[in-house]
Parts: sequence; structure tokens; C-alpha cells
Amino acid sequence: MITLNVEKTFGFISKENVNAYEKKVQEAQEMLENGTGEGNDFLGWLHLPSSITQEHLNDLKATAQVLRENCDVVVVAGIGGSYLGARAVIEALSNSFAWLQEKKDSPVILYAGHNIGEDYLYELTEYLKGKKFGVINISKSGTTTETALAFRLLRKQCEDQRGKEMAQKVIVAITDAKKGAARLTADKEGYKSFIIPDNVGGRFSVLTPVGLLPIAVAGYDIEKLVAGAVAMEKACGKDVPFAENPAALYAATRNELYKNGKKIEILVNFNPKLHYVNEWWKQLYGESEGKDNKGIFPAAVDFSTDLHSMGQWIQEGERTIFETVISVEHANHNLLVPSDEENLDGLNYLAGKRVDEVNKMAELGTQLAHVDGGVPNLRLTIPALNEESIGGLLYFFEKACGISGYILGVNPFNQPGVEAYKKNMFALLNKPGYEEASKAIQARL
Ligand code: PA5
Repeated sequence: MITLNVEKTFGFISKENVNAYEKKVQEAQEMLENGTGEGNDFLGWLHLPSSITQEHLNDLKATAQVLRENCDVVVVAGIGGSYLGARAVIEALSNSFAWLQEKKDSPVILYAGHNIGEDYLYELTEYLKGKKFGVINISKSGTTTETALAFRLLRKQCEDQRGKEMAQKVIVAITDAKKGAARLTADKEGYKSFIIPDNVGGRFSVLTPVGLLPIAVAGYDIEKLVAGAVAMEKACGKDVPFAENPAALYAATRNELYKNGKKIEILVNFNPKLHYVNEWWKQLYGESEGKDNKGIFPAAVDFSTDLHSMGQWIQEGERTIFETVISVEHANHNLLVPSDEENLDGLNYLAGKRVDEVNKMAELGTQLAHVDGGVPNLRLTIPALNEESIGGLLYFFEKACGISGYILGVNPFNQPGVEAYKKNMFALLNKPGYEEASKAIQARL
């Protein structure tokens, strides 16, 4: 189970002031439960884990099996909430070098539709030449340009390479029940499809087919992932007392820090496999809280790697930051530092220790140094990198995000600011329907 320790924020903020959030947290919990807050049409994630049926999981697993049996590579096409959750889980659980191994137990999972890099897409399509590949096309709106463009390329290549019949088998759509181009194509072509519920926004959708299907294709146990989330749904429930409720405590502490000038939260991991959990978290908190000219800026680092790049800034730069560290209690493998007779590198003092013990001392040493340097520190501990822990971690962050956004006084479930760049891009590309905007934007150039 996940534990949260906020002791190392006291001294920067007081425990009394954090505890004083109890009432606000309770109000936020009730707004979520009763659907009385802003964005209440997007609360489908709240009790999603406990409402997932075995039948649904079986359907996902059966579809995953079709892709696993017929593909050496599966490309997940999606952007933002339509790909980050799947990538976060898959990378947290994967062997870092699996894709380089000759004999693979599962299809290689690649990603597209999350950028418009011509070189990226060229190189991807080159790599896929001659390969048995499939595509999971994920878009709630079904009209996102980045994803639609990548899917157009991938679909054509898949059909050309594998034939129409096989393409129909290995292309799966995850989209809205009725609207959008992705739905239209899926229905017309007869692709297997899954629905993204109307009331679940992209960044809260990892436990819908958006995350669950790619994770199952990659070979991970989605039942355990969901079980971890269910346990966390209970642990963060409305009736769990404030001091025992990790989501409540996290939401309260970060809001109190923000009030005291700590405008930037850095999510820290000491495990490279958590890089995309950081990326997923940045989207979750950035899109949920960054509006109405307020919101903590969510940043992220991978330690100890980034201690050699960002460490200086964090230790001695402007004191407007705090850190939330994800600490993984147990490594999954055992690797000892060998002894060396000559000891030329001077490392014999570590001989016989586990590499993870060295990592843990880097973690502890960093925490003490950063607190001494004026950086409040929260620590989230998860037992290990496995499905249950990651499922719990994702739900924990979602629940805390809903509470935190309501405490901050914003609608945590919309993202109106994301539209601004799209309007300009469509105007610049002369998209039909944007004629007036095109003229106006051309006049500004
Ligand atoms: O959280 C969100 O709503 C966004 O990040 C979306 O997931 C992202 O823009 C992709 O949208 P869509 O799934 O409609 O293609």
C-alpha cells in the first residue's frame, strides 16, 4: 500500500495549518461524491476502479490476445491523456532492454500520434516495413490532428502490408461511442472498438480501455492493476479520516505550500522506469489546475540522473519549489556490487551491498540536502514496481487531483486553454471552416 510522509514540509509550513484543511478537503470530497462542483459531468473516474466488471476485463484481454498473436509490434496512436497513462504503466513494468532482445515474449509497443515530427513518423514507418504490426487508435474526440495524421499513415501501411482482412483484425479503435472521425472509420471498416465513457476526461482515462488495452497487449496483468486502484479508491474514500487519507493529506499539503509561495512542484523518482509516470502526472496536474491565472507548475526530474543537471538549481536556485518523491521500497532484482582486488576505483567500501542500497542512500542524502537547502519534501512510498502498486499510485494521484483542484477553486476537469494553439494551427493550415481566422492570422504575420 502507498504511504505518504509529509513531515519534511513542516518547518516551511505548519502541521496545524495543514490540518486546518480538513474541512475544505471534506467539502471537496462531497463535491466529488455528490457531483455538486464544477466539471461534474466528468466524474466517471471517481468510482471507476470498483465498477469495472470481469466481463469488461475479459473482453479487453481477448482483444489483447488477438493483437499479441498476430503482431510483433503494436503502435499506440494517441496524445495527452490518450497515451500517457498506458506508456507510464508499460514503461514502469517493462524490462528496460526487452525491445532489444531477439526473442520477445510480447509485442514491442511503440507510440505515435503524440507529435507531428516528420522525421519521427518517417523513421517509424520505415521501421515498420515488413513487420507484422497492429495499431491501437486512441482518441476520445476522434478528431485530434496529431493522432489522426499518424493513424492515416499507419492504417494505409498496415492495409498495404498485411492486407485488408488482417488489418481489420489488428487495428483497434478506442474512442467515443457515437461521434468523431475515429468512430466513423472504426464502424465503416469493422474494427473492434472500445468506448471511452463520456464522463471520463482524457487525463483521467488510464483505467478505461485507453490504458487497459495497450497494457494488456504489452503482457501485464490488468486485473491486478485494477485491484491496486480499487484498494486505493477505498483508502482515499470520503469517510476515511483526514490524517489517514493519503489523497486528502497530499491535496492539503500542496495547497498550503502553494499558499506560502511554493509555486512549483517537482515530482521526483529514483528509478528510470518511472519517467513516464512523471510525464503522466505532469499532464494530470497541469491541465487540471493550471487555469484562471493560478495553479502549481508541475515539473519532474529523474534522479539520480538529473541531480547532475538540475540538482544545482534545486539545491540553490529560487526558493519557490517543493518536491514530491516517489520512493520504491523494493527493487525487483538483486544485484550486488562486486569486490575488486585492486580497488582502483575506490569502490570496495560498497562491495557486497545491493545497488538499490546505494540508490536509497542517494535518495536519503538528497532529501536531507534539499530540505537543508530550503526545499520542502513529501515522500510517497510504493512497495515495488508491480501492477498493484502502479494501479494504486495512479488512482491516488487522480483522487488527490480532484480534491486539490476544488480546494484551489478551479474546475479540475476542463482544459479550455488547450484550444488556443489548435485554432491558430487550423487557421494557418487553411482548414475548411477557418477562412475568417485564416485571414486574421495572416494579417498578423
Ligand atoms: O486530457 C485531455 O483531455 C487531453 O490531454 C486529451 O487526452 C488529448 O488532447 C487527446 O484528445 P483526444 O483523445 O480527443 O484525441
